[in-house]
Amino acid sequence: MIQDLTLQYETFDSMEKLSVSDQELLSQAREATQKAYAPYSKFHVGAAAILENGTIYSSANQENASYPAGICAERVLIGTISSLTPHAVIGTMAISYHNLDGISHEPISPCGICRQVLSEYENVQQAPMRIILSGFDADSPIIILPNVRFLLPFVFSAEDMK
Ligand code: THU
Repeated sequence: MIQDLTLQYETFDSMEKLSVSDQELLSQAREATQKAYAPYSKFHVGAAAILENGTIYSSANQENASYPAGICAERVLIGTISSLTPHAVIGTMAISYHNLDGISHEPISPCGICRQVLSEYENVQQAPMRIILSGFDADSPIIILPNVRFLLPFVFSAEDMK
C-alpha cells in the first residue's frame, strides 16, 4: 500500500517578514559563523538557539585535521546547551553559514547526524523545536520548519528499543 507523507514549512523572501524574535535569532546564527574553526572546508556554519526562558546560545562548526573528528555547528550547540543548562527547552534553532570560497545565499539544512541529534533532543524535551534555515546574505531566502520531526521522518529513537 502506498502511503503519503506531508510536511509543512514556511518560506519567506526576506528577513523583515519574520517576527522580531526570529530576526534576532537568525542574526545571531549569522554572527556565530565567525566562531567557526573551519580551516579545511572554509565553510563556516553558525547556529543559534533560544530557550523557553528567552536565553540565546550560539555555536559554530569545529573542524580537525583528522576530518571525521570535526563537529557541526548544530551538535556543538546542542552539547553546549545540554552542558550549561541541562533539561533546557529549546524553542527555536536558527542555522546559517558563510561559505568563504563560494556562495552563501540559499538555506542549508542540517546533515543526517545532526538531524538525529536534534531529533533526540526534541523527543526528550517533549516540545517542538522550530528550525529556521537561511544563508548569510541579508536577502537570503528563509525556511521555517515547525519541528525537527519534519527534518527526519522515520527517525530511529529510544522508542524503537523498547
Ligand atoms: N556543517 C555544519 O556545521 N552544519 C551543517 O548543517 C552542515 C555541515 C559543517 C561540517 C564541516 O565543518 C563543514 O560544515 C563542511 O561540511
